[in-house]
Amino acid sequence: MLYLYAPQEADVYQALLSRAMPGREVRVWPEPVDAASVRYAVVWGPPPGFFAGMRRLEAVFVLGAGVDKLMARDDLPSSVAVVRLTDAGMAQQMLEYALYGVLHAQRRMGEYQHQQSAAQWRPLPARLASQTRIGVLGLGEIGGKVAMGLATLGYRVRGWSRSGKPLEGVAACKGETGLEDLLADSDILLNILPATADTRGLLNERRLQGLPKGAFIINAGRGEQLDQNAVLGLLERGHLAGALLDVFSEEPLPVSHPLWRHPAVLVTPHIAAMTLPEEAVSQITANLAALVRGEKPAGLVERARGY
Ligand code: GLV
Repeated sequence: MLYLYAPQEADVYQALLSRAMPGREVRVWPEPVDAASVRYAVVWGPPPGFFAGMRRLEAVFVLGAGVDKLMARDDLPSSVAVVRLTDAGMAQQMLEYALYGVLHAQRRMGEYQHQQSAAQWRPLPARLASQTRIGVLGLGEIGGKVAMGLATLGYRVRGWSRSGKPLEGVAACKGETGLEDLLADSDILLNILPATADTRGLLNERRLQGLPKGAFIINAGRGEQLDQNAVLGLLERGHLAGALLDVFSEEPLPVSHPLWRHPAVLVTPHIAAMTLPEEAVSQITANLAALVRGEKPAGLVERARGY
């Protein structure tokens, strides 16, 4: 049996999964099931204790790219395979989101918005894509496509990853020195890293100070990776020009949080790259079939690595 926990569109996922796997019994939370007969689970953010008693559980398919919340729980035995989505329509959305932030910064839209509020007609000097340095943190299935997409549009792109993998049009770097060099050389910093023990707290005040004056930050990774108070402080001091933030250390971002009201900050509610049901189900179906054949599915999480 396959047990589904989807906080949104559960009926859509159930219909798609049942159609894609006609031979398999698909049940949907909160319908009670005999935990011992669950072999596969498809989930996004299941409640604590969800996996209790699922002693024949073989694999959990995650309805997203990030598995940080799942890795942090204690009711999922390490013998269970965890499989996340890889791209599944998210890379294109992430590229669009990044591009929105890049254009906002490069074409000075924040400054023009400010001028508009005072009915000021004041052209500012042009900035070309070829003069705009973008640092991309995270070059996986999603970050890699975003970095290459921005490079294709003429931006000067540098990318930081664990392995320093080379990508077309992207200057690759890795390690602490690579990160420092990238930060010093980024007019726009784009974070798309997975949240792991290594990346939590990565963008702390010290590292953010290494960005050039007037830099713009786009965070579409995870909130825990970016020190939000440091961002506010650096904005106040004029070191940062602005930020486009999609993820926060607490979500939803509390109503009283100053980021909501900062004139140079754009806040979106974790929508940069949303899970698309059709793409997700077709990838999960292929991954489950691979597991059954004894093959390694795309997106199999390496627990020691954390993603
Ligand atoms: C969204 O944040 C995801 O991990 O897919």
